[in-house]
Amino acid sequence: MKINKKVEEAINKQINAELYSAYLYLGMSSKCVETNLKGIANWLYVQAQEEMTHAMKFYRFVLDRGGHPVMPAIEGVRTDWKDPLEMFEAAYEHEKKVSAMINAIMDVAIAERDHATSSMLNWFVDEQVEEEANSSEIAEKLKLIGASKDGLLMLDKELSTRVFVDRTQPAGGAQA
Ligand code: FEO
Repeated sequence: MKINKKVEEAINKQINAELYSAYLYLGMSSKCVETNLKGIANWLYVQAQEEMTHAMKFYRFVLDRGGHPVMPAIEGVRTDWKDPLEMFEAAYEHEKKVSAMINAIMDVAIAERDHATSSMLNWFVDEQVEEEANSSEIAEKLKLIGASKDGLLMLDKELSTRVFVDRTQPAGGAQA
């Protein structure tokens, strides 16, 4: 069954929002590279890659359901972050907004009785729990670290180990 028009419109907006998210995290990552926090930069770069896969999952879904993805401009992001704490607090606030957007699409899908979309969106509902938890946890660690340079370098080391896995694929495959 072809995708419902209201649902298609909402998902098209979400494709743009996920690409914006990738852009947001890239802007943060670049600032960390410039300030020699390469581990935190790595974590944020991997996050930007994840956001791209979120956009692609929505994009493929619209096409698979006979819809038409639209490609409006992606809004610019700031790159002048003061420090990692400011970044991760903003990331947490951003992810809460994304969760609300996903929930709003789910509301449209339910109202329009579009069960295929509801089923696809369940993956995003679960994913957002982790997205919020990750950014919040790192922001809390940064608050504990405060002005400690040793603490910041330890966190930088910890976040350097994050590796990109395409979680939108069944077995974490490489297709984005
Ligand atoms: Fe695609 Fe961070 O949510």
